[in-house]
Amino acid sequence: MEYTHQPVLLQEVTELLVRKPDGVYVDGTVGNGGHSEVIGKKISPKGRLICLDRDSEAVRISKERLSPLSEKLSLFKANYVELAEVLKGLGIEKVDGIFLDLGLSSHQLEHSGRGFSFSRDEPLDMRMDSDNELTAHEAINTFSSNNLVRILREYGEEKWAKRIVKTIERERKKKPIKSSLELANLVKDAIPVSHHPKAKHPGTRTFQALRIVVNKELENLRTFLDTVPFLMNKGGRFVVLSYHSLEDRMVKQTMVDWERQCTCPPDLPKCACGKVSLFERLNKRGIRPTPQEIQMNPRARSATLRGAERI
Ligand SMILES: C[S@@+](CC[C@H](N)C(=O)[O-])C[C@H]1O[C@@H](n2cnc3c(N)ncnc32)[C@H](O)[C@@H]1O
Repeated sequence: MEYTHQPVLLQEVTELLVRKPDGVYVDGTVGNGGHSEVIGKKISPKGRLICLDRDSEAVRISKERLSPLSEKLSLFKANYVELAEVLKGLGIEKVDGIFLDLGLSSHQLEHSGRGFSFSRDEPLDMRMDSDNELTAHEAINTFSSNNLVRILREYGEEKWAKRIVKTIERERKKKPIKSSLELANLVKDAIPVSHHPKAKHPGTRTFQALRIVVNKELENLRTFLDTVPFLMNKGGRFVVLSYHSLEDRMVKQTMVDWERQCTCPPDLPKCACGKVSLFERLNKRGIRPTPQEIQMNPRARSATLRGAERI
């Protein structure tokens, strides 16, 4: 089997995450198993790797790829927000590392047939988990114009939201908008050619916004971030790769807040307020891929890696 997804910042992720070879590690977004293959090799036979993905196709692919690690591996089709329950089922209370690689895999984009890509003519689905009810087709064809404008602005940071939605509204009155290519062309036509972005398709922001809303991506991330401190052993590391500013801002701000639990001035030699920090950030600026990595794997270009250690 050929694995189409190239893991981003692979060495940096595994070096930040795995500090204790006998520890328990979680990959909450296993995808094609690219990161987990290396994480799994870095941990000892006594260590444990727990992998989740909400996409059953990803679970099938990673199960095959990670089969040589089966002795130390547990793999589930689950949303990462369900991690506490998964751990409970395994009799584990806390772990030594949690990794999230947010966003889509190349497999989902190019081979899932679910309309994630504006350059393919596929049904407008965009669900990572096919058991979920809401599809992009339903959102585009039934949501009110005001709601769609809000979604494109909030989740796509799309400044042409009103024009795009006006075009969608006009077309969907004639017949339902059924395919990804149909939608991509409508968005392209709605944005004046002189304002088409140079390096990306004009539909990029609309597709991002729809995908986020269909999969509740930001709600899931928020819910999960609030549970992370309770799931980690002292010295455990939480490592996240994000691909757009909405996710990265949320991750960064949460890590800053975790660190700031202590309200003492930074120059005080010892904490006097008693509110001890939950985490220490491992890289305040976020790690970005090198130009060489971006050249080899263009999908890496928007990635930012952040890590924090439970203290
Ligand atoms: C960028 S890919 C991960 C690629 C993986 N690191 C690799 O090297 O193959 C992101 C994966 O996260 C999954 N995903 C996104 N949101 C999720 C969630 N809330 N819970 C579980 N999996 C999720 C997607 O289905 C997708 O397979």
